[in-house]
Amino acid sequence: MGLGGYLPDEIIDEIRISNEIVGVISDYVRLNKQGRNFVGLCPFHNEKTPSFMVSQEKQIFRCFGCGEGGNVFSFIMKRENLNFPEAARVLAQRAGITIPEEDNPEESARLKEVEQAYKVNELAKDFFQYVLKKHDVAKDARSYLENRGIALETIDKFQIGFAPPSWDGLLQFLNKKGFSAAKLEELGLVLPRTKGTPGYYDRFRNRVIFPVGNVKGKIVGFGGRVLDDSLPKYLNSPETLLFNKSHLLYGMDKAADSIRQLDRVIIVEGYLDVITCHQAGITNVVASLGTAFTKEQGKLLLRYTREAVMAYDADAAGVKATMKGWQLLDDVGCRVKVVSIPNGKDPDEFIRRQGPDKFLELVNEKTLSLCDYKTDRAMEKFDIYTLEGKFKIASEVIPSIRNLSNEIEKDEAIMKLAKRLHLSPGAIKAEVDKNARDSRNNWGNRDKITGLRDNNNKFAVPGKAPKGEQDARSRAEESLLIMMLEDRDVLLTVKNAIGVNFSSRQEYLYIINLLNEMLEKELDYQPSALFDGIRDEPAAELLGSLMARDVPSENKTRFIQDCIKTIKEDELRKKREDLLSKMEEADKMRDQDLRNKLLLEYSKLI
Ligand code: UTP
Ligand code: MN
Repeated sequence: MGLGGYLPDEIIDEIRISNEIVGVISDYVRLNKQGRNFVGLCPFHNEKTPSFMVSQEKQIFRCFGCGEGGNVFSFIMKRENLNFPEAARVLAQRAGITIPEEDNPEESARLKEVEQAYKVNELAKDFFQYVLKKHDVAKDARSYLENRGIALETIDKFQIGFAPPSWDGLLQFLNKKGFSAAKLEELGLVLPRTKGTPGYYDRFRNRVIFPVGNVKGKIVGFGGRVLDDSLPKYLNSPETLLFNKSHLLYGMDKAADSIRQLDRVIIVEGYLDVITCHQAGITNVVASLGTAFTKEQGKLLLRYTREAVMAYDADAAGVKATMKGWQLLDDVGCRVKVVSIPNGKDPDEFIRRQGPDKFLELVNEKTLSLCDYKTDRAMEKFDIYTLEGKFKIASEVIPSIRNLSNEIEKDEAIMKLAKRLHLSPGAIKAEVDKNARDSRNNWGNRDKITGLRDNNNKFAVPGKAPKGEQDARSRAEESLLIMMLEDRDVLLTVKNAIGVNFSSRQEYLYIINLLNEMLEKELDYQPSALFDGIRDEPAAELLGSLMARDVPSENKTRFIQDCIKTIKEDELRKKREDLLSKMEEADKMRDQDLRNKLLLEYSKLI
């Protein structure tokens, strides 16, 4: 959303300065002073012991438990589900700052358009609802819903409606309300006629209508189901100004509180799955609406919980979608489990036949890790009694074992698979390691992600070295960056000694360069403002985790010099190694001149 662009920087700064973070967050969380910081129960996940920290000095917050973090704007964005400009407005109002609206005619026109679009959707929903409830043409639809066990209360709650079979019922209704056909076409409600006299006709005809809301419950689009077996079974709004399927989760507005409270989400595939679950009192359920799960949907969930259970259909498409969705959710940082619903049912059918308690039992006690789920599926496909079958099963599961970021989990998965296939764990482990070497690209990617997670882990256990080998050089880089985020002078010192491109980590360089920009543009040195500019989630997460940390040191000046020295020495070591290998080359080529030149250079480095 471009609104941030038009809120001038001075105003954003003014808003920031007038909204001291401890004061703002205290409106939502009870904070207690603890040492230099304030702590409380995290508002973004369910917890009993406080792991949510607010730093007054740095004007940031950070949760050690769920990893949420940022500045005062990010807090309001996450807590109130707002975008940046919306959050800025809330904070402006809180501080009594007026934002000159009419400054940007383009933006206010866009806002008007959005508002009008919501209005149209609202009216369309009213129309469909009225038809379902009152009109004769909806008789079959009413009995259809009744046969599917959907209570009147649920129909109201989910604002279910019916689109009449006529060609232009909605079009006429909305025309009378003053909306042009062209406008309605933009919002995906009508289509232009392709034959005969020019004109438009309703997109949704003779279908049960499920309005789709955004997180705030505002209607952004519709899905319509046929009453019989004709195709397509569901018709959805096309992509519009408001309807962006890959960013939406059906039921999110109704599930949000419960997901937060239970610290867990159940993800299903369809409209009816969500509706039946909610009706049965299981309310932490959303649907990805039949499309492949997207990163945006994953991030949306992360605002509420990290714990996800996927309960997709057990058909081939569902299995495929489960595996893809799992990987995606895992990548954005969710902890994912899968349930396999017996006898090829979907959650809606299962609940109607077996009752909600049986479903909860599945979801609470019968969840599988991806490796187990994949092993189950592969064992259905291949013959476990032949060596070839075992090999095929193993090769379907091993990539997922390899992807596990935790060594203990990995070990456990290896043992389990070995046991199920009657093979030795050593054999499986060898395959896992072999695969790891074979697919470097994948690893690079994973390392980046797990690297970020390691930062979190390390953070939770202060003073402990992170898992794996972190060498002196990267420790020095990290410490320097942490100190730069506190103190402008550290940046100056480091810059003078070794420049700003001293890190071998791209993410660090990115942050250091943003800091340097602040320095060079002679802006107010406020590292917490960096959050506003970072649109890339992993970078924001890294920034959050770095800013929340302190480098414990008695003598800071000395420590900074030590870090600088470590980096310099490591650079030198690399140069020497490089020269040595060049000298070897020169020897092989019998190039005495080159060798001598290199030797001279080398001796200067010692
Ligand atoms: P399903 O075919 O599993 O439908 O598609 P369902 O939700 O179980 O519906 P019922 O029980 O047959 O009424 C899952 C989801 O995929 C999307 C819809 O969002 C649906 O809820 N879908 C499916 C479409 O968008 N178009 C289709 O033609 C089919
Ligand atoms: Mn179904």
